[in-house]
Amino acid sequence: MIIAPSILSANFTRLGADIAKVETTGAQWLHIDVMDGHFVPNLTIGPPVVADIRKETKLFLDVHLMIEHPEALIPDFASAGADLITVHAETCPHLHRTIRMIKELGPRAGVAINPATPEDVLEYVINDLDLILVMSVNPGFGGQSFIEGSLDKIRRIKSRLEAAGSQAWLEVDGGINLETAARVMEAGCNVLVAGSYIFKASDPGGQIKALMNISAS
Ligand code: DX5
Ligand code: ZN
Repeated sequence: MIIAPSILSANFTRLGADIAKVETTGAQWLHIDVMDGHFVPNLTIGPPVVADIRKETKLFLDVHLMIEHPEALIPDFASAGADLITVHAETCPHLHRTIRMIKELGPRAGVAINPATPEDVLEYVINDLDLILVMSVNPGFGGQSFIEGSLDKIRRIKSRLEAAGSQAWLEVDGGINLETAARVMEAGCNVLVAGSYIFKASDPGGQIKALMNISAS
């Protein structure tokens, strides 16, 4: 099980210190939420910030692009040091081409789907993917409640991955806490994004350990 703390809920005035807190306590990935104020109603960070994060940490940088026309910025995020770039199926009319573009630049490639998007959009690209991201909230903000229908979707995607013989990671993002983590893991996820559960707590490292413990039990 991989825990990917989302820096969306970190304190951006002391981002380096917040990243250090999770790096020393078992997280292997760092989830970076990029928002454009168009695809989602919020704005966050761009490639220069990712480049600075890259200099500060050895964590695997999991860059989640919630932006329209992602192909315009994918080269910049790849140069900034992203290890994996995830685009939303809803923003990519030429999804196969976008996935190929990411991989040709070096990073691994993922596709995210919103809560109301059927998993059928993954059918013809499933064997090209390194990761599928199931959004369990509507993207844009941290601290929202887990949408229950995500569990069945995760189970169905897990079956599709097995049927396709794919080793792609199955990641979930939104509303993850100890209780929802246990259920998404049981449903087949092996990468958990958690923002507010980790960074809004007084002991982020302790929260990561708690998540790791349920994955071991
Ligand atoms: C939401 C982002 C998430 C967010 C999750 O659009 O994609 O990564 O940080 O936050 P929590 O874990 O608080 O739901
Ligand atoms: Zn995210």
